[in-house]
Formats: sequence, structure tokens, C-alpha cells
Amino acid sequence: MADLQTLRHVAEQAQRCRQCALAQERSRVVWADGNPETRIMFIGEGPGQQEDQEGKPFVGAAGQLLDKMLAAVSLDRTQVYIANVVKCRPPNNRNPQEQEIAACLDYLRWQVHCIRPRYLICLGAVAAQTIIAPDFRISRQRGQWIERGEYRIMATYHPAALLRDPGKKREAWQDFQAIRDALAQ
Ligand code: URA
Repeated sequence: MADLQTLRHVAEQAQRCRQCALAQERSRVVWADGNPETRIMFIGEGPGQQEDQEGKPFVGAAGQLLDKMLAAVSLDRTQVYIANVVKCRPPNNRNPQEQEIAACLDYLRWQVHCIRPRYLICLGAVAAQTIIAPDFRISRQRGQWIERGEYRIMATYHPAALLRDPGKKREAWQDFQAIRDALAQ
């Protein structure tokens, strides 16, 4: 069972967070979207411009592709939880820096702890390197389930990477099929 009360409390704290420099330029803290009562959580990198404006993760072009990929395996945002490694937009969509990730990581830990999903899906290298291993290579290690305590973790390509290089879509589709199979168990 998800601990919704604690989750709400931590979300409120995050809205006021000023623990790193990203707080200075953000329009909105982008906490999460979807259903905390879920078995599966997707973790992206950090908000982009549109997410920063709307306060919701994955609403831009990459988000639309993510929605399509979810739909292809009969999922939508009412069935999954979506969050990012950092909750505030890095300027010009650069990668979040080590100290920004470190400052934000407890929020993600709380999200995972409160939701207790069985499956964690890292979208892209930043999430995979933060959650799985600092030397994680997305092109070599994507699609493999990693058992860690009560969690099964997998990394796949970030949807923005698929927009840049549609040649990667075939592998991403395999990963989403593996996700569908795991959820069917
Ligand atoms: N990319 C991410 O990693 N997260 C978002 O919320 C949007 C784009």
C-alpha cells in the first residue's frame, strides 16, 4: 500500500525547496504525474521548458512519445507514476549536475519509498546512472532487469533520444514489451 499521506507531505516540502541553484530559475517544481497506487514507476531526467511551465513531467514532445509507448502496451497515466531525478528545470535543458542530483535525490527516494512500486523504469542514462550504477551504459545495458531488494529495475532509452534517433525505437519497443510481460505476471 502506498503511503499517500507521507507522499503528500514530502511533495509540499519539495514545492518550497531551495536546496540547489535550480530553484532560482524554475517557474514550477515538477513533482510527478500519474497514480501513486501503482506497481510501476517511470523515472526521467528532469523537467524541460514545457514541464517547467506546466508543473507536470513529460508534457512536451518526449512526453507525447512516452504516452504513445505506454498506450502501445495498454498503459496510461492513470496506471503508472512518472517522476524525474531532479524536480526543477536545468537551464537550457542541460543535464543536471552531480550536486543538483545529490540535493534532489532524497525526494526521489521518498517517492519510491512511499509508492513501493515493484518495477522501476529508468528513462535514459541520467536516471540509470543515478539509480542503477554510475557507470551504466544505456546502449549496452538497457532492457535488462536488475533485482534490488523488493524492486525490479530496468533502464531503456529516454524518449527524447528516440526522437533524435528513431533507429533506437525497435529496441525501446522490445523493452516496453518486456515491461508489459512483467506486469502481466
Ligand atoms: N524529459 C525528462 O526527463 N523529464 C521530463 O519531465 C520531460 C522531459
